[in-house]
Amino acid sequence: MKNKKIILAGGTGFMGQEMIKYFGKENEVVVLTRQLPDTENNRNHYTSLTKDDLLHTRFVKWDGKTTGDWAAELNNADIIINLAGKTVNCRYTQKNKDEILNSRLNAVKAIGASIQQCKTPPRLWINASSATIYRHAMDRPQDEHNGEFQDGFSVNVCQQWEKILYEQPTPYTRKVALRMAITLGTGGVLIPYFNLLKFGLGGRQGNGKQMYSWVHIEDTCRMIEWIEMHDSIEGTYNCSSPGPVTNAEFMQTLRKVTSTRFGLPAYTWMLKLGAAIIGTETELVLKSRWVVPTKITETGFQFKYPLLKDALSDIISKVPRKQYRLFR
Ligand SMILES: NC(=O)c1ccc[n+]([C@@H]2O[C@H](COP(=O)([O-])OP(=O)(O)OC[C@H]3O[C@@H](n4cnc5c(N)ncnc54)[C@H](OP(=O)(O)O)[C@@H]3O)[C@@H](O)[C@H]2O)c1
Repeated sequence: MKNKKIILAGGTGFMGQEMIKYFGKENEVVVLTRQLPDTENNRNHYTSLTKDDLLHTRFVKWDGKTTGDWAAELNNADIIINLAGKTVNCRYTQKNKDEILNSRLNAVKAIGASIQQCKTPPRLWINASSATIYRHAMDRPQDEHNGEFQDGFSVNVCQQWEKILYEQPTPYTRKVALRMAITLGTGGVLIPYFNLLKFGLGGRQGNGKQMYSWVHIEDTCRMIEWIEMHDSIEGTYNCSSPGPVTNAEFMQTLRKVTSTRFGLPAYTWMLKLGAAIIGTETELVLKSRWVVPTKITETGFQFKYPLLKDALSDIISKVPRKQYRLFR
């Protein structure tokens, strides 16, 4: 994709930074953030970005919930990609649950209202959703045609997130919700796994039989390019590789590509205790997410990284050894 104007709402996080690296070289990128960098020099608090990565990127302030001056950026833009929302990596207290849900719904409503003010609205709106929308599945893979939902907090959040997206009246803007699987790149979710490897804890989590659906961030970006090129693509799509594995296979592959000789398993009781101590939820590692990308594959999209081994090898080649090794 070249010479497009891309708006990244909530684009300062893991995925946003990866998208700036991928799209920012040949496109104009505008990041909507609640906290502007103070000066030119501290731009690098976006840890994975260099000055070169940011050559065609600007940061514009929004509050993530109301329309404002930032809305002018949407006029004549080509694509808006909305990634905004409070991280789910926290304890699910009522306060956090409210914020996880409301931050997502409010951002979508603010974008919808702002698109309606545009003389020339963006042609495409890609909104994050999550593959965790499907039930805990040990029996069969879930896709857009036959996937099942199950009552629960994170499932409900995703359902409401998608519902509010489709409720926005944006007749000139094609909308796509991407149900993203665990997204692998040099930051994000791999950082806590690297820490486990460092301390010899890179074994399976729980009984290791739960499924682990994943996607390489480069394939997420490629999928966005593909969607941009194909006007007929609209609605909800799984953004997950065609090669989900079990948790035990995931950890084994990670150990292999990092040449980590052994990894102790973490039993369920340890995870429960550990999660409480570090302020997160065991659902993030114990839920069996078995999701496949049927609809996007039906459009002819081909994954560059269908196999976990190749995806992880590529990522590890870009990560300094000290990040996942205690000793050299
Ligand atoms: N990473 C994954 O594996 C994965 C998988 C499935 C779905 N997703 C979803 O995809 C999206 C992007 O993921 P990510 O890993 O890049 O997330 P992230 O690193 O947590 O970044 C999300 C961004 O949202 C903004 N944000 C946080 N709280 C907010 C609030 N209360 N109101 C408005 N904006 C807020 C922040 O930007 P500012 O602080 O600059 O405003 C932050 O940089 C998230 O919505 C996530 O739930 C991610």
